[in-house]
Amino acid sequence: MSSAKRILLIIGGGIAAYKCLELIRRLRERGHSVRAVMTSAAQQFVTPLSVGALTNERVLTNLFDLDDEREIGHIRLARDNDLIVVAPGTADLIAKMAGGHADDLATAVLLATDKPVLLAPAMNPAMWAHPATRRNVAQLKADGIRIIGPASGEMAERGEAGVGRLVEVPELLAAIEGIFESSERRQQRGVLEGRHVIVTSGPTHEPIDPIRYLANRSSGKQGFELAAAAADLGARVTLVTGPVSLPEPAGVDIVRIKTAAEMLEAVKAALPADVAVFAAAVADWRVEGIKTEKIKKTELPGAPTLTLSENPDILKIIAQPGPDRPRLVIGFAAETQNVLDYAKSKLKSKRADWIVANNVSPASGVMGGENNTVHLISAKGVESWPEMSKAKVARRIMERAAEELHTKRTAAE
Ligand code: C5P
Repeated sequence: MSSAKRILLIIGGGIAAYKCLELIRRLRERGHSVRAVMTSAAQQFVTPLSVGALTNERVLTNLFDLDDEREIGHIRLARDNDLIVVAPGTADLIAKMAGGHADDLATAVLLATDKPVLLAPAMNPAMWAHPATRRNVAQLKADGIRIIGPASGEMAERGEAGVGRLVEVPELLAAIEGIFESSERRQQRGVLEGRHVIVTSGPTHEPIDPIRYLANRSSGKQGFELAAAAADLGARVTLVTGPVSLPEPAGVDIVRIKTAAEMLEAVKAALPADVAVFAAAVADWRVEGIKTEKIKKTELPGAPTLTLSENPDILKIIAQPGPDRPRLVIGFAAETQNVLDYAKSKLKSKRADWIVANNVSPASGVMGGENNTVHLISAKGVESWPEMSKAKVARRIMERAAEELHTKRTAAE
């Protein structure tokens, strides 16, 4: 959830205006402060008294109200907030916004603001579908106004249904929090500026013959999210990945390999680096004596015997002390049991700085899933994080890595 923000809620004149009362309560529960402006039509649907009771602020209604102008001019009102939410956005209010009108307090504030505006339209489906509204909405989108909804369903008028309902309060809240979180993220951009981050990801494929290989179920999602998060924080990123079918993260140098041996070579070639994260599920063994032609069933008396030999441990090799060792080496420990014990011993045996441990037993749904529950193990101890999306895990790991690099450098100075 984002930190406490100031929201200016502009309530338009529609039957759905009552939902704003619930919205105000939920926003305030989350610690945000809400100031409300009501159009004169809005006051026909809910009273300024009830809105003011919930916001705990005087409700503003009139552009020419001298008191309001003395206390807080409409220009300040337009800018003294983090977000303006327009709900319900009626066809008339939308038309005025698109045309740049400023003949009442709501429209004057919307014209004067330099803050993000979230519009939640609500009107009769015929009004929403009308070419005039379509034009106005297209104009507002082009002007950078964010629009949520309308939803479809029954209308207040009997027998009317279609697209035009104000979205429900939880959806509005999620959209509002989404805007705050992305702006907080933008402000944090750059903490890995000037750093090089290497991420290994995905499975490796160890060939048996030109057609067949040994592999595992790694989807590569966590590794791709780590690469995306590092790039988002300003790092130069080399993502060394085994065969996966995922979209390439923006702004990342991607090196595609198949085997563990190729992955090791690609990681070595990418050094030096400030941070190396080993999220790949490297195959422990490769097949000895790979056949150059397809093994034919008919040529053998029975099933073939595969002789396996151990693959190089890429993490262990890169984490060895030396001039090329990245300053922060992070390994992953995917276990199906005794997660913390195995992870702690891996921290030592592989000489990693951190191990991110998770449970990948089939019941956990981690393999191939969207969420992850991880423990961060370092010399300082164990930190257990709540379940969150792989994107959030990645973001937090990279933010922590940036802090660690900063602390290490400050300590060295
Ligand atoms: O497979 P294991 O549990 O040992 O993996 C722990 C960590 O070591 C992971 O970060 C994995 O990416 C890394 N690893 C590696 N090369 C291997 C095996 C594991 O880099 N051959």
